[in-house]
Amino acid sequence: MSTGVDVGDGPLVLGIESSCDETGVGIVRGNRLLANEVASSVEQHVRFGGVVPEVASRAHLEALIPTLRRACEAADVDLAEVDAIAVTAGPGLMGALVVGLAAAKALAVALDKPLYGVNHLVGHVAVDLLEHGPLPADCAALLVSGGHTSLLRVGDITGDITELGATIDDAAGEAYDKVARLLGLSYPGGPVIDRLAAEGDPTAIRFPRGLTAGKDLVKHRFDYSFSGLKTSVSRWVETRRLEGKDVPVADVAASFQEAVADVLTAKALDACEYLGADTILLGGGVAANSRLRGLLEERATAAGVTLRRPRPGLCTDNGAMIAVLGAAVVTAGRAPSSLEIGADSGMPVTTVVA
Ligand code: KG4
Ligand code: ZN
Repeated sequence: MSTGVDVGDGPLVLGIESSCDETGVGIVRGNRLLANEVASSVEQHVRFGGVVPEVASRAHLEALIPTLRRACEAADVDLAEVDAIAVTAGPGLMGALVVGLAAAKALAVALDKPLYGVNHLVGHVAVDLLEHGPLPADCAALLVSGGHTSLLRVGDITGDITELGATIDDAAGEAYDKVARLLGLSYPGGPVIDRLAAEGDPTAIRFPRGLTAGKDLVKHRFDYSFSGLKTSVSRWVETRRLEGKDVPVADVAASFQEAVADVLTAKALDACEYLGADTILLGGGVAANSRLRGLLEERATAAGVTLRRPRPGLCTDNGAMIAVLGAAVVTAGRAPSSLEIGADSGMPVTTVVA
């Protein structure tokens, strides 16, 4: 038995994440982070320009036990000490989810601990608990990941979430990845475009802001659309190439990024006003984006809204976000999941625990 962990301050929870290409194992004590180990298979997907599900599943299988061992060592925790096991039950890639879920069930049975199959997307929002503590009631949340983009009302992170709106086509991260591909940049596109944009002029090209005017805005006040933006970037680049001119990649990246950040933040603050919320949470892989972070901060401050955003390293997929959501759910006294639960690749954001 180790002695390195406090016994107070909430439940000791192990969190396992395997919904996409990151195998994550996190350990938390309440809202305190003790370990966050991530093994990524991203290198194996680069040449395909996107995640290959079978490759991701096999990589999870190989990485899970070593990542679990590393997390226990980093936290100085014996598995027998853990109070509960939390695991991503969905949404995500079916085969990838199944690996983490099978491991979590095996641990729950072997250690005789409760199992909590939790929602990956809610984990992205909950991760901020590790940085800034408990949430006030009724926050707004902007969730921006590779597969999802939504505006949420978070009454209670452990069980009261409403979706105000979502993307009607591509997710923000998906748009980054697709635009990166058409600019000949590597996968995943978000971090590359973010870096390149710093050298470009965000006002060089005025790309469209989807669903922000006229009837579209009335019908889709809290929805997003990024597919028209992606097409517009593609046409602009193509025209340039046909004219035999160089493509100013940094300017295109900066102008594209400006369009994404502008529309994401404008609607997020409109949601705060609509909800009467004085706090907005930012979560998901795209929440690591420097311009989105900066512009949301600027606009939130101007509107008198407090922005809570996790540090960039906690924005992309990891096990700590699953562990801290698990700890919140345990603390709230929610019932554990059945050992019979299956992975739910389409789990809605309003379902916190399966
Ligand atoms: O949340 P996440 O790690 O995985 C999903 O749940 O989908 O998000 C991954 C997405 C990818 O599309 C990636 O390009 C994007 O997050 N991303 C970024 C940045 N870092 C990661 N997008 C913009 N700027 C970044 N710095
Ligand atoms: Zn994610």
